[in-house]
Amino acid sequence: MSKITTSLLSLVLVSVMACQTSPHRNVAADYQISKNAKQLVTWETKANAVANRSNEVIALSHFEIPMRLLEKDIDQTLESSIVDSLVFEKNGEKYVRWMINPEDTQWYLEVKAFLEKNGVDATPHKFFDAYLTASRSMILVNPENGASFSLKVSTNKTGGNWTDKKQTWDDAKQIRTLDKWMTEATSSMETKNLVIMNEPLAFGIKELDHGMIMRSLNDVPKDGHYYLPGFSALHEYEGARIAKLNGATNVADFWDKHYNQPLAGALAEFFAFTGTWYDSPHSQNFLIELDKNMKPTGKIVLRDLGDSYILTDFANQTKFSNIAKIWDQDNVLTGHTNSKVGLLHGNTPPTWLSAARYEQYGKNFFNAFEARFSELSGIPVSELSPEKMTVYQYSYIGKSYKTTSPAWKQFFMNANCMNGERKTIGGVDCPEFFLKKQKKVDCVGNLNSILMAN
Ligand SMILES: Nc1ncnc2c1ncn2[C@@H]1O[C@H](COP(=O)(O)OP(=O)(O)OP(=O)(O)O)[C@@H](O)[C@H]1O
Ligand SMILES: [Mg+2]
Repeated sequence: MSKITTSLLSLVLVSVMACQTSPHRNVAADYQISKNAKQLVTWETKANAVANRSNEVIALSHFEIPMRLLEKDIDQTLESSIVDSLVFEKNGEKYVRWMINPEDTQWYLEVKAFLEKNGVDATPHKFFDAYLTASRSMILVNPENGASFSLKVSTNKTGGNWTDKKQTWDDAKQIRTLDKWMTEATSSMETKNLVIMNEPLAFGIKELDHGMIMRSLNDVPKDGHYYLPGFSALHEYEGARIAKLNGATNVADFWDKHYNQPLAGALAEFFAFTGTWYDSPHSQNFLIELDKNMKPTGKIVLRDLGDSYILTDFANQTKFSNIAKIWDQDNVLTGHTNSKVGLLHGNTPPTWLSAARYEQYGKNFFNAFEARFSELSGIPVSELSPEKMTVYQYSYIGKSYKTTSPAWKQFFMNANCMNGERKTIGGVDCPEFFLKKQKKVDCVGNLNSILMAN
């Protein structure tokens, strides 16, 4: 055999072997990350003053855990393409793919020991394409059906200033409870600014108190909108680039108008419909919705609501009054709020945002919040604005509203009406003022779609 033929043959052989040992599939992936989801990954990992990370794809490892060993809470309406990405059948038994965070060097070992103790094979498998974010959440793509979502488990390494973060099952359960309430309440109310990233699925290992929680990416995987993380808007270069792309001459003014104040509107709506306020309202938990030209739409996307403050004055007047009992008691409030916002908390300020301007952001935030909340609740602005504002430089800026006046009591009495109901929890018809805040039912549209479907 000539030298050339031998080399050609070896080349073919090496290529064939390379195909056979491909990590998890022997054909090119049918589905890859969408353009807008990849852009989200790039912002998360590259446009953050405190966390520069890889935006490259990772062949994620997972454990295969028999479902009988797990706790679970799955929303009935969750798309089957997502459920089927995590739940599959092997030897007639249902298994769950339990993500191993690729940066974690500690928590997954507890899961491994748990599997071995239960006589389950603890060999890691590979299936998903995955991408890092700024936090412990990862963005996953199922290469076989294209489902794309965010998933988080414990890890002792993330981007940013807080690194070791266990994801407990207890917390995952709280998240699911709040998620059900939020979804029911907010979906029947008119919103101007509020969009939520739902967390419709959670699994847990009770004895370890480990959780795995899934979050929807809404229309990002379908290239509907861009989601710009708040910390990327406040990033020295990327924040300035997007502001200028939209014709802005003053970057700080642009993000005041298109991030800070719409966020106040979104938090006012969220608070008016649930009486709930973030425990950690920083820019890693907020995203700015942009259209296809990267123009802000006015909508702000809230994620990671699990460790919020619940206000019993409100919750007790809704169908979800049970929530205060299962909630972390340190985060259950009565008689006052703990309303704060910290757009640069945990972050490093860009040069275009002075400390004085940041404090002005705080004032503008509470003015916008009070205006929108008053519109929704009927509590006069004159009652809200005198509360003192506390400022931590480049960190949290807050107000604590006393919730005991007659106007607040009137609002709480009608809390159920802010959840899309026609009657208060006491059975009284909801006043017109609150009914007007609900989404209008499109009777003609509904009838048409029923007729079309038949
Ligand atoms: N600019 C930033 N501001 C705040 N947190 C940041 C920032 N960049 C990275 N982080 C990291 O993000 C995480 C924020 O904590 P938080 O509890 O809100 O989120 P998480 O539960 O880990 O993730 P997710 O918000 O994706 O659910 C921390 O690990 C923190 O170090
Ligand atoms: Mg977060």
